[in-house]
Amino acid sequence: MPNQHDLIVVLDFGAQYSLLIARRVRECNVFCEVFPHDVSVEELKKREVKGIILSGGPASVYEDGAPKPDPKLLTCGIPILGICYGLQLIAKELGGEVKQGKKREYGKADLIIDDQSNLFAGLDNQLQCWMSHGDTVISLPEGFKQLAHTDNTKFAAIGSPDKKIFGVQFHPEVVHTPKGIEIIKNFVYVVCGVKPTWTTKNFIEEQVNLIRTKVGQEKVLLALSGGVDSTTVAALLHKSIGDQLICMFIDQGFMRKNEAKKIESLFLSKFKINFIHINAAAKFFSQLKGVTDPEQKRKIIGENFIRTFEIEAKKLGDIPYLGQGTLYPDVIESAVPGTTIGKVAKKIKTHHNVGGLPEKMGFKLIEPLRLLFKDEVKTLGLELGVPKEIISRQPFPGPGLAIRIIGEVTEKRVKILQEVDDIVVGEIKIAGLYKKVWQSFAVLLPIRTVGVMGDKRTYLNTVAIRAVTSSDAMTADWARLPYDLLEKISNRIVNEIPEVNRVVYDISSKPPSTIEWE
Ligand code: XMP
Repeated sequence: MPNQHDLIVVLDFGAQYSLLIARRVRECNVFCEVFPHDVSVEELKKREVKGIILSGGPASVYEDGAPKPDPKLLTCGIPILGICYGLQLIAKELGGEVKQGKKREYGKADLIIDDQSNLFAGLDNQLQCWMSHGDTVISLPEGFKQLAHTDNTKFAAIGSPDKKIFGVQFHPEVVHTPKGIEIIKNFVYVVCGVKPTWTTKNFIEEQVNLIRTKVGQEKVLLALSGGVDSTTVAALLHKSIGDQLICMFIDQGFMRKNEAKKIESLFLSKFKINFIHINAAAKFFSQLKGVTDPEQKRKIIGENFIRTFEIEAKKLGDIPYLGQGTLYPDVIESAVPGTTIGKVAKKIKTHHNVGGLPEKMGFKLIEPLRLLFKDEVKTLGLELGVPKEIISRQPFPGPGLAIRIIGEVTEKRVKILQEVDDIVVGEIKIAGLYKKVWQSFAVLLPIRTVGVMGDKRTYLNTVAIRAVTSSDAMTADWARLPYDLLEKISNRIVNEIPEVNRVVYDISSKPPSTIEWE
């Protein structure tokens, strides 16, 4: 949405935290995008950028091949804030000196403010901050002054108010710098002079207009999964074009207990949206007969999903538009044409989502969430009336319970897992822990073990309980669920599910394990 809002950009020098910086700026109700570090000043001027944040990064500014911005960047007149590597880059490029420090500084530090204007306006003269650096600035460029220091770092914050260029050695974007958001606010509001117009209400209004203009009197088809993203897109499209929206829900047969029914009733009764429920379970089960390899399962499910969608979409006649719940982190690689941001993650599992429908199907795409982060989508969904139960749901994989049944996926085994999963999630909710853990679920194992019930020997299925804490699914730790809760879950499962006689708890973290078992 170019320039309906003042734009701040983060230039990415390879930091872990570039996206987090952008999210923090958006928390200040200011629109922010992440661009590659070497974007041209012409492009920035064309986009009427109001402020630039240089991210941190793993390189050293004095190394050969260290990533550098457009040589005209530091004199282009747009206000700049450098963070960590960004600060060192400003110091070095403008004539100061940067060296490897005597020791690395990592973790919390006390920041003493030497100048309580600009970045530190309205803040106390001592703040907690979070440091992570090996290099350090040892002399400042002309026109710059020290704004803050720590015991270890003389130039923990520097700036030239005349040039509107500032730098901080610490990370204001992380939670361990509790007043970091105030520092970012000072940069965007005070130094850059931007207005906080990036609000959910404005976003909805603008998108409704854009969608109406783009779609005209045509129809839009949307593949629904029942998750936060596709449900929010459905609500937004419905608000924009009403009955011109047709939602298609393909039930593969691997949903959780009663979930398909719940989705149908939400869309038909609450939203009153055109809703087509395709029950394709029989086809999916027959395609998966005898298949045990996890990647093979994902491939079959993914391909089947697309084929089913193609066939069902054709039956609806000529629909030119396809709605999709693509989010900002998915599109960021093409933020500026011809460039890439970050490294391509090594493929560990093939992920299959409803967003992955192929371009060759000839639809024109409508992706109204493509500028949003997940937390912004949740706020938007709530504002549009999507029930809290859906918004605050734990992530659920596209192939559903099929990748939580180790070995062959049969209708019978799905039924067993649905019942077990319902007990696990239900008890975790009752214990008030559902929102505290990232994901919690059950896995049905392909082994039977011996047990004894009453006076009888049993030889039945084993299930594993998995509950993890995480902030982004990239890493995760096993959740320390209370023993009493685990005991209750285990008792209920073996008493209520006749096919199961043993329950185990997964105590692996990611890495080296993954969250899902397949
Ligand atoms: P792993 O198991 O790789 O999972 O640690 C990381 C996150 O991704 C989810 N996941 C999937 N999501 N399709 C999806 O849409 C998939 O095939 C898939 N596999 C894993 C997983 O639930 C966790 O949140």
